[in-house]
Amino acid sequence: MTDRIRVLIVDDIPETRDHLVKLLGFEPDIEVIATAASGAEAIELATKLLPDVILMDINMPDMDGITATERLSSHVPTASVVMMSVQGEADYLRRSMLAGAREFLVKPFSSDELTASIRQVNEREREKVGRAVVVAARAQEQAEEGQVVAVFSPKGGVGRTTIAVNLAVAAASELGKKVTLVDASFQFGDVAVLLNLNPKDKSMAELVPQLEDGGDPDSVEAYTQTHSSGIRVLLAPPSPEMAELITPAGVKHVIEILRQRNELVVVDCAAWFNDTTLGILDLADIVLTVLTLEITSIKNTRLFLEVAEQLGYAHKVRLVLNRADTTLGIRVADVEHSIGRKVDHTIVSDGRAVVYALNRGVPFVLSNRESQVSQDVFRLAASIVGSPEPIEEEARKAPQKGKSLFAWR
Ligand SMILES: Nc1ncnc2c1ncn2[C@@H]1O[C@H](COP(=O)(O)OP(=O)(O)OP(=O)(O)O)[C@@H](O)[C@H]1O
Ligand SMILES: [Mg+2]
Repeated sequence: MTDRIRVLIVDDIPETRDHLVKLLGFEPDIEVIATAASGAEAIELATKLLPDVILMDINMPDMDGITATERLSSHVPTASVVMMSVQGEADYLRRSMLAGAREFLVKPFSSDELTASIRQVNEREREKVGRAVVVAARAQEQAEEGQVVAVFSPKGGVGRTTIAVNLAVAAASELGKKVTLVDASFQFGDVAVLLNLNPKDKSMAELVPQLEDGGDPDSVEAYTQTHSSGIRVLLAPPSPEMAELITPAGVKHVIEILRQRNELVVVDCAAWFNDTTLGILDLADIVLTVLTLEITSIKNTRLFLEVAEQLGYAHKVRLVLNRADTTLGIRVADVEHSIGRKVDHTIVSDGRAVVYALNRGVPFVLSNRESQVSQDVFRLAASIVGSPEPIEEEARKAPQKGKSLFAWR
């Protein structure tokens, strides 16, 4: 029988050991696997045999039971010690428990008391192990959850959609990640245009009510589309009025489901604060906040950072300065001084590559991967999902169009 409780008996008096072996011999669920005459022998045997329960005499000549228990709790932590003593004083009990004993029996004890103690400590240990397994499984689940990156800006037209789309595609095509891109600009979402996809019958406006009616989480698959780059895309509705069908709670639910099924979820947010945006920012692991070298964008970013601080998001905000090389009289250092923190990432301006890609419905990281703007997005993707080395390598190989951002900063 494999589920018998395996017991090691430790007592310096041979008669006591024999007596205990006999007592436990009648119990079908308990097996005495060995006996030891000293603390040192107990440690040696327990390390080798890994008993479930150790019956330990407190008074032994060479090493007392308390010292042996202390050592056992670090050597064989899975074994539960039941301390046996002729004295029942509080001090003995306290010292035994501090040493790691789980039960304390005062001699003479009855056979029932003995077996009840053994069963009890064994049961407790099993429950503890069971709990540890559940906790470990939960930690594993959480470690397997994907990252949610919200691409946000407190001002429109700064490049959120451009960055969200190219970031998602770069993470999939260059870094091999499983990615879903969500267009959360529900009224005037542009993701479909940049990827040349059609939102008819397959958008957030159909998915959210479906889930709210008790639909299966698997239905997210039915309402997302696969782009040729390999990413999955959940589009905004085809017409603005359909945005009303989308509730903030529904959006959160969708993103939670997607987080379980992807390594990266990129959300292209609307440029204003409402319950939906706040819900997304709440869930996000990273809030990529896009700004440009314009005074209005900088002012709004400063205001947003203050709000982010109050809402407890500040630690997850990463600032992306888009079109960072445009010479409009404001330098990166001026921006950083004005908003009181460093810019984390910069992306060059490249009207030709970006607008050409937009008009063709093919992301520039696919059609023009050598360009500086693509390299900047690759670097951003690598810093978010890891493994920056290959990207650095690519960046070195790529022809340097225009001046390097970091050279003039
Ligand atoms: N790095 C860049 N270089 C050149 N042009 C860019 C760059 N990034 C964005 N653009 C252009 O800026 C315009 C706005 O970009 P985009 O639509 O991505 O911004 P947005 O913040 O999503 O805007 P909206 O508030 O309308 O959703 C587009 O015409 C886009 O092509
Ligand atoms: Mg947009």
